[in-house]
Formats: sequence, structure tokens, C-alpha cells
Amino acid sequence: MTEAAGKVSFEDRTYDRFELNPIAGALGAEIVGVDVNNLDDETFDDLYAAWLQYQVLAIRDQKLTPEQQKEFGRRFGELQPHVFNKSIEGHPEITEILKTENETLNNGGRWHTDQQYRPEPAKMTMLYAHEMPPHGGDTSFSSTYRGYETLSDGMKETLAGLKGINNGDSKNHPSGLTRMERQKAGVGTIPQIDPGDAVTISEHPIIRTHPETGRKVLYVGSHTERIAGWTKDESAALLDYLKIHNGQLHHTCRIKWEVGTITMWDNRCCLHFALNDYHGYRRRVHKLLIKGDVPF
Ligand SMILES: [Fe+2]
Repeated sequence: MTEAAGKVSFEDRTYDRFELNPIAGALGAEIVGVDVNNLDDETFDDLYAAWLQYQVLAIRDQKLTPEQQKEFGRRFGELQPHVFNKSIEGHPEITEILKTENETLNNGGRWHTDQQYRPEPAKMTMLYAHEMPPHGGDTSFSSTYRGYETLSDGMKETLAGLKGINNGDSKNHPSGLTRMERQKAGVGTIPQIDPGDAVTISEHPIIRTHPETGRKVLYVGSHTERIAGWTKDESAALLDYLKIHNGQLHHTCRIKWEVGTITMWDNRCCLHFALNDYHGYRRRVHKLLIKGDVPF
């Protein structure tokens, strides 16, 4: 990977402490041959570098209790409890995403970046697969580095300095309902809690700079509902285009899960989309968020 001066370069980085298999041109790699419960510091440093380089890693064949998942997560930063999703018993930092064989709606089935509506959105999301359907239920990822880099110079200039208003509980959800309305109507798969005083609408730059790599991203996803200072209609015209642009297939990879897979992605430079193509089967994962910084 070659970058301009002043940015992190991965050009000479090699990984010999585990097997790394890139899965697409834009982003994504599979990791084989590590046990995240027994990682020495050197192997962890390599894993962290690979995560920054590939943006999303699928680590195969892991065995994790909730406590072990949290322990591994803490090596990447401070754990951040979800403000809307109810956590599992005894572990306020872990939420369970379950779709049963009787449900048809899934969670996260559109292009988004986690917690974009928070003042300090999640740096990383880490999912651990407990149950998977025999086929289907993949997660797609899209590189927002690519989203930015493939815009014209004119569009980059137009977007420079603009801020997006990101709402964690808008009626823009495909159901047209807020989270609590969805819960009351029995629509949706994760029990919701009242966020209390937590801020759930936040303004962030539409062109964001990754704090560790220095690269720019097109920071627009399904939570982005307005451009600050623009009308709803004006915003929709541009945001609809940018959302489609960000999710173009050339910018994506797709993770095929197995029970025991950990997938962890960098919310600062990619979007994700949970495919809903496995009706009649159960799918259950445990989700953990690592706190990030104020976007700039
Ligand atoms: Fe998500």
C-alpha cells in the first residue's frame, strides 16, 4: 500500500506471526493461526497493524467467553456500552444480536458506521459468532477511503468543510419507526433501552481524517440524515448520491462467517451491511464497541 507523504505506509509491512489472506482489493483480510486469548505483545502489534491496513479482519477458529471477548477488546481501547441496545446479563459492554428462525427483520441491514450519532463514535466494532445459518448471513464492508479517493476534485472541494447531522434514532429507518416504536410494535431484533442523557444526534465532518493513518474518508452512512445548514431536500439530493457512491461494489468485501469467527472493523474508515438472506435459521453474535475520538 503506497500513500502520500505524511501518512502511514504499510508498503514494507509483512506478517509472519500468523497467516493473513486478503479477501478483496479494497479492504478485508482473513487471519488464521492465532489464539486471541494467548497473544504476546509482538503478535498483538502485528494484528493491530493488519487491522489498520486492511480495515476489517476476520479471525477464524476462536473460543471466547464474554469475559475473554472483553479482555481482548480492552487491548484496543476503552469499551463503550451501547446507548440503545440492551446488554447481556452481567456484561454491560456486550450486546447480543440474535435473529431467530421465526423472524424476518435483521439488525444493521443497510450501509452504516457504528455510533456515528455519538460525539465520540466507536473506533472499532468486534463481533463474535456463536450461531450461524448453514449459508447466508454474511456481512459486507465498504471502504470509505475508497469512497473519498474516487470522488472528483470538484466534489472533494464541494464537501470540504461540510458537516453531516447523524441521528441515532431517526424515522429514516426502513420501518419508518423510531427504536422505541419498533420495540412496541414488535419490529426489530434487539431489546432497546432508554438512552437517558446520552447524546444521540451529532454533527461530524463529511470528509473525515483518520486519526491514525492520516487518510481522508467519506464519512456518510445511513445515520447521516442532513447536511448542517442545508434543507432536508437539498441534503437528500447530495446525501443520496454519496451513500450510493460509498457502497459501490468496487469498494467492498464480504465476510463469510463461521461459528468461532471474530470480525473486527474500523468504523473510522469503513461502512458495514448485515445481509438478511437466511430466513428460517438462527444467527447469533456478541457485539463489543471500542470507544473512539471526536472526528475531525
Ligand atoms: Fe452496525
